[in-house]
Amino acid sequence: MTQIAIYPGTFDPFTNGHLDVFERASNIFDSVVVVIAENSRKNTLFSVDERREMIEKIICRYPGARVEVLHDGLLADYARQVGAKAIVRGVRQVKDFEYEFQMSLLNRQLNPDVTTVFLMPNVKYTYVASSIIREVAMLGGDVHNFVHPNVLEKLHEKYNVCKGQSNT
Ligand code: PNS
Repeated sequence: MTQIAIYPGTFDPFTNGHLDVFERASNIFDSVVVVIAENSRKNTLFSVDERREMIEKIICRYPGARVEVLHDGLLADYARQVGAKAIVRGVRQVKDFEYEFQMSLLNRQLNPDVTTVFLMPNVKYTYVASSIIREVAMLGGDVHNFVHPNVLEKLHEKYNVCKGQSNT
């Protein structure tokens, strides 16, 4: 039986830390579905379609990988719909754990058939977060070590457009 895991997140944008966690999950599960959660509470830099396109380009070479969007509803219900056995979450530092612990127990309550699996990325990504990448890129810093070249290009496009617009 195919073991499916879902890897949910906002991914604004998808970083090399995310990719590291995704690769680790791909080594464990037959199929890993990256699930972009469209969270109306968050103002994102990239639209869902932009994020989807970027992630698809990065993970297409992995067998069993795909990208889906959770437009609304609970992740626990989505896991049930796609027959996922596991929810994968990356944990970089101890401080991540409090929120993750709460979320995993809640998801288990909502769907007892799904188990959250925490994976640690390579230590070089412990301080990499999408929010920091966005800020550094916006301020003209070099983030090429932290994102895939496709994402880097999109960040440059985004911030060049923003700078251009603010000058008009
Ligand atoms: O990358 P993020 O922003 O930390 O990911 C958070 C995410 C998307 C995993 C979480 O907000 C989520 O699962 N959203 C889907 C809606 C849901 O099920 N919420 C209840 C979580 S217990």
